[in-house]
Amino acid sequence: MKHIAILHGRERTFPEAFCAEINRRNLGVTATEARIGYATTDLHRVYDVIVDRISHEVPFYQTWLKQQALEGAFVVNNPFWKLADDKYFGTVLAARLGVAVPKSILLPQREYLEDITAASLSNMLLTNWEEVGAFTGWPCYLKPAHGGGWKSVFKCDSMETLLHNYNRSGTQLMMLQEGIVWDAYARLICIGKKNIRIAPWNPDMAHHERYTKADFNYGPELEALMIRQGQLLNEALGYDMNTVEFAVRDGIPYAIDFMNTAPDFDRNSLTGDSFDWVVKAMADLCIECALKPGESQLPKRCTDML
Ligand SMILES: Nc1ncnc2c1ncn2[C@@H]1O[C@H](COP(=O)(O)OP(=O)(O)O)[C@@H](O)[C@H]1O
Ligand SMILES: [Mg+2]
Repeated sequence: MKHIAILHGRERTFPEAFCAEINRRNLGVTATEARIGYATTDLHRVYDVIVDRISHEVPFYQTWLKQQALEGAFVVNNPFWKLADDKYFGTVLAARLGVAVPKSILLPQREYLEDITAASLSNMLLTNWEEVGAFTGWPCYLKPAHGGGWKSVFKCDSMETLLHNYNRSGTQLMMLQEGIVWDAYARLICIGKKNIRIAPWNPDMAHHERYTKADFNYGPELEALMIRQGQLLNEALGYDMNTVEFAVRDGIPYAIDFMNTAPDFDRNSLTGDSFDWVVKAMADLCIECALKPGESQLPKRCTDML
């Protein structure tokens, strides 16, 4: 019997439906919620596949998942890569892969840890804000490089608002992006890198209406392009569970947010059809991974030596 576990936070609808779907199929694979206590060096593999929905908020889980991957578990998403990524790097990578992205700038942090003084930062040049503003133009978006859930994302229409928000960003690493003034917006729900469902999604609506009150019609060519680029990004980033957002301006999809390694899968946000699609796609993926274990997820330099 193979065992799949889901590690989650406050969400309930997705974990419950996901486990029920796998158990219902009776394929010699069971699914449950993960149960984790302290870990020791003697700990071996506890589950064959682990769906990680929450380790970005619980460091203990992050390290525990890496140990499980070392012991041969398959973790969705790969804990070694997921924890290393940031949005600025992702944006640069996307650009190099030929995906359109907003002009972006990585900014030095506004504040540093206690012991870091001016003397510690003698390599750092002062930021020329006129140049920064001229590069992105207005409006621009100030956001954390390790962000999520719209936390500390600011639309800035002037230098004054930009500096006001930057000056309050504390020790967070912030990036600035050209604001794409879009005609249409799309969110791609991506499972197992290639399996993608385009969901019209309107960020201008209230949270619970973003999927239901989005009636964009992209047309077949734009849809195909977004799917190809979404697949490319998932392949390059190694994500098996992700959402990729595009803002469409003059027919060109700009990748805005595509490092959502634990996307909102709640039934109430996704709504009926998309929720059922996600549950099925995740069950298919995890069952396949449990029955046909693939390569280790460890960095290659480790597996070469083990
Ligand atoms: N460069 C941009 N151009 C236009 N809209 C943007 C841009 N960056 C962010 N946004 C808007 O802000 C929202 C939140 O930003 P996002 O990068 O998705 O942060 P988070 O990861 O916190 O969700 C996006 O869904 C989009 O509506
Ligand atoms: Mg987002």
